[in-house]
Amino acid sequence: MEQLVKGPIGVFDSGYGGLTVLKEFVRQLPAYDYLYLGDNARAPYGNRSYDTVYHYTLECVRHLFDLGCPLVILACNTASAKALRTIQQKDLPYMEGDRRVLGVIRPTTEIVGEFSQTREVGILGTVGTVTSESYPIEIAKFFPDIKVYQQACPMWVPLVENGEANSAGADYFIRKYLDQILAQSPHIDTLVLGCTHYPILVNKIRAYLPEGIRIISQGDIVARSLADYLIRHPAMEQRLSRGGKLTFYTTDEVSTFERLARIFIDQPLKANHLHVGI
Ligand code: DGL
Repeated sequence: MEQLVKGPIGVFDSGYGGLTVLKEFVRQLPAYDYLYLGDNARAPYGNRSYDTVYHYTLECVRHLFDLGCPLVILACNTASAKALRTIQQKDLPYMEGDRRVLGVIRPTTEIVGEFSQTREVGILGTVGTVTSESYPIEIAKFFPDIKVYQQACPMWVPLVENGEANSAGADYFIRKYLDQILAQSPHIDTLVLGCTHYPILVNKIRAYLPEGIRIISQGDIVARSLADYLIRHPAMEQRLSRGGKLTFYTTDEVSTFERLARIFIDQPLKANHLHVGI
């Protein structure tokens, strides 16, 4: 009988944000191997066109497949909003090896209604995620009674990517976008951090929010959704290697990635360089 070649779960983000999701995967599903790829050389994706985000994401997904991942999670809302469906529908059917790509928006919208009493929910995301309207469209399918407000926070990802998440300078832009979303309605009781970089800013975000507003980070939600997916798809689960190993790739400077990623992942790590077309 032919031996099944097993491989790690690929976790992709434009930069460091996906580490907030990877951290939860490792906590909730520690047995599997994970291969993280941050496209730091081309981050942020948030202000880029549909076409650019799609091409960058597809290129990175192909690399993760070539590195042996049978399953890739786009741990990036912008890529999930702008590239996931096209990759699933137009690209995957023509690729060898029956691989799968999943995103982070669907798992979040499936359960967001469970958190809100007032039925008014705010979404904080990149310009790309907000203008795609993915959150209002998806939430309406599961919770038609929920009113969705959105706010783009274009300065938050650059703060994280440049290691300024905890600096005093970050405070101005944290407050600015929170004031803007809260001005849209006094009844918002749930705020979704609809960008995987934002949990890195969560302490500052919490400090500025009035009591009683719940902050939803995606790591835990997406990890639980992955666990459920693997139960429902045993053939895919069988193709995943289980050595509890973490491997990191960045498309930019390795030493910078190792230094900044360490802040988010809480353990020493070694990264590898991956070349992409800039
Ligand atoms: N972590 C990505 C997201 O969730 C960041 C987007 C960006 O690179 O601007 O949307």
